Amino acid sequence: MAFHQKLLYWYDENRRSFPWRDNKDPYRVWLSEIILQQTRAAQGLPYYEAFIIAFPTIKDLAQASEDQVLKLWQGLGYYTRARNLHATAKIVVDRYGGNFPVEFQEIKKLKGVGDYTASAISSICFQQPQAVVDGNVYRVLSRIFGIDFPIDGSSAHKHFKDKAQQLMRNAPPGDFNQALMEFGALQCTPKNPGCEHCIFKSECVAFKNEKVALLPVKIKKIKIQKRYFHYVVLTDASKSTLLEKRTGKGIWQNLYQFPLIETDSRQNTLKKHSIDSLLAKKNIDDDYAMEKWNEKAIFHKLTHQHLEINFWIVRLSNCDILKTNSSSLKDFPMPRVLQNFRDNFFTN
Ligand code: ADE
Repeated sequence: MAFHQKLLYWYDENRRSFPWRDNKDPYRVWLSEIILQQTRAAQGLPYYEAFIIAFPTIKDLAQASEDQVLKLWQGLGYYTRARNLHATAKIVVDRYGGNFPVEFQEIKKLKGVGDYTASAISSICFQQPQAVVDGNVYRVLSRIFGIDFPIDGSSAHKHFKDKAQQLMRNAPPGDFNQALMEFGALQCTPKNPGCEHCIFKSECVAFKNEKVALLPVKIKKIKIQKRYFHYVVLTDASKSTLLEKRTGKGIWQNLYQFPLIETDSRQNTLKKHSIDSLLAKKNIDDDYAMEKWNEKAIFHKLTHQHLEINFWIVRLSNCDILKTNSSSLKDFPMPRVLQNFRDNFFTN
């Protein structure tokens, strides 16, 4: 039996039921694929459902404010995806009258849509033979076919795409792509794959050669940057506070935060003059009392950055610069670590 036939039989028996598999509406498929890019399906599902309820059509998404979109995305991470999602919804409405483009090359021009997403949309929704290459596909193909050149090298994507493209011939493209990804997610998993009961056990090169744990191969180690964040939580007797929108490129762009002091190294105390100058910049000249909220620094890991976070509570006398009432804090999109702080500090 051909590779694609075995795979599709397996998919028929084992596929999970997800709402984005219920129909082939490109808006829904696109939304699900963006959510699933760096997220496991079980984690992404409630976000997908919340988006479809809030924005049943791409027009609704295009008309939303960026804050609304980020608020719904809150906690999912990689927030560039949400900003691009919003930008693309506007483009599809303005340029294509709300109808997703059909051609692979046109789809690929949309913001936040690379080869992977364009292949997924054009194969699932428009039956075009475009093979997807994601982490699952790298892993499954490298193991079954014993491909041991690095998946983060410059020619890896082309090599794996060509291979998947060959295997896809004579198969329905959308089902083939989803089956291969599903196989990677459920059977040929990164750790503890189910080799003993695998449909490809007899031909899998990695299994035969006891190399399953060694494939796929990666060369580059991710370089991690350490950063030291000190959030200054200005507050007064009425528990009002001050929030700022995080501008500039980099993590958490356009999300809200408490005023931030970043230091080059670990510091367990914050110098008084750094608080004084922060207050001066905000034209606050009240007396204040300061205390550290957390006993130990909070570690927050992102893919390329490890953050050490401290919260400093600065209590002012009633201060009219503190515009945000604690009861409205939940309306602002924030990174998860700040949400946790907010929920602990402002409700007590
Ligand atoms: N991972 C991301 N998108 C997927 C899809 N459409 N099917 C299975 N796994 C996926």
